[in-house]
Amino acid sequence: MRFIVDQQVEDIEMPENLKLNTFLQEFHSDCTHSECRFGFYGFAFGQSPFPVPKLIQDALIKNVNKGQYAAVPGVPQLRNAISKYNKHYFGIDVAPERIYVGPGTKELIFNLLEILHGTVILPTPAWLGYLPQIRFLKKNFHMLPSRANGKIAPNDLKRLALRLQDRQKILILNNPHNPTGMLYNKSELEEIADVCRELNITVISDEIYAQTTYDFSKFVSMGKIYPEGTFVTNGLSKSHAAGGYRLGYVVFPQHAVDLKAQFKKILATEYTAVSTPIQYAAIAGFEISHEMDEYFKITRNIHKIMGEYTYNRLTAIDGIKATKPEATFYLLADFNAYSPELQTAKITTSQKLSEALIVHPYHTAIVGGDSLVLERTDFSARIAYVDYDGAKVYDAYQKQTPKTHSERIEFVQNNAPKIVAGLTMLEKFFEALKKDAVDELMLLKNNMRIPN
Ligand SMILES: Cc1ncc(COP(=O)(O)O)c(C=O)c1O
Repeated sequence: MRFIVDQQVEDIEMPENLKLNTFLQEFHSDCTHSECRFGFYGFAFGQSPFPVPKLIQDALIKNVNKGQYAAVPGVPQLRNAISKYNKHYFGIDVAPERIYVGPGTKELIFNLLEILHGTVILPTPAWLGYLPQIRFLKKNFHMLPSRANGKIAPNDLKRLALRLQDRQKILILNNPHNPTGMLYNKSELEEIADVCRELNITVISDEIYAQTTYDFSKFVSMGKIYPEGTFVTNGLSKSHAAGGYRLGYVVFPQHAVDLKAQFKKILATEYTAVSTPIQYAAIAGFEISHEMDEYFKITRNIHKIMGEYTYNRLTAIDGIKATKPEATFYLLADFNAYSPELQTAKITTSQKLSEALIVHPYHTAIVGGDSLVLERTDFSARIAYVDYDGAKVYDAYQKQTPKTHSERIEFVQNNAPKIVAGLTMLEKFFEALKKDAVDELMLLKNNMRIPN
């Protein structure tokens, strides 16, 4: 039997995260070197390494018997808890009726793109999840390159939006930002909001990393700045280390009554509701409690320590620049200073750079530039600093909280040996690259002296 796949599906590319998975698996089965058996230094996958908070686990166990379908927008207690959570942590007053629960923010963003008419404005670099969705839905889209600090400039947004003919535009704002780890401040958001108001731009503000903001008092939600035009998405995946639970939520803009009915139709058509026991478990994660508050504080501090260490070691390598993360567990490293040496080594694209790093002797996995919606020839890469045993590190932090700079370095060295070793591999790779390029140059010079 031969099955014919729908053309619409055939036409879309494999999402980058799946490509990455396949690529790493292929590498594993291909490499015969004995040292490859340990796996690789994982700077590629963006997953929180910590255990799911105990009170969420307990609540899940307690609610396993809940076999009934839940209401489409989510169980009322959960929407209530999310409403209070938003008030407590993000200072936004949202009635539970403005909150819709779905199986992860990825799906909810897709659903929003389904119901919202308009051209999508996608700031780059970007999380690798948005573009396949935009393409699948055949939406018009335009990239909006960020400035060197990883943020979009309001003037650039304005210039682009003025060129677009659509009555409505949709800006996907990701704050805090994957892959750079940067954070917009209040006045930057206000300036973006001014442009959005003026030019009828709807914002999908993906704030899945909000709770990871290292200095949490600095986080400002776009839902607060532009409440009439922003859909805020957030969930359990990063802050509660429960990506596998598949639970996210969207806060609808104020007064979006008609739209909510349309959205409900889409959810009911596609998945009815999120698994009921998971929704009850999530209540425990969103209710305000000392335990959750401690969990957020500890995990964001550990991310900060790992980020600081990774940033310092990377930028100590001659010529390498990186964004200094203020949130998330990523930074964007810029290896473009090595472009001539990379070309000499026949590494002409960021994909080739990822391949060169994953093979023996480096065994280091990174996410290259084109997966981040950058040019194929842009040698930038996302470095995720989560390759450690989250449960052990969490305990170690509680037992002895590192305070000084040198204690923080020691903490990483003692608790995240794969991050330490992976960074050493990156150092070695670029050292060798430089040396090989010099050797090649010498060879070329010597050859030129040889009379024919
Ligand atoms: C920026 C960003 N948005 C959304 C998601 C997806 O989150 P969820 O698990 O809620 O679908 C991720 C996950 O990597 C992400 O990095």
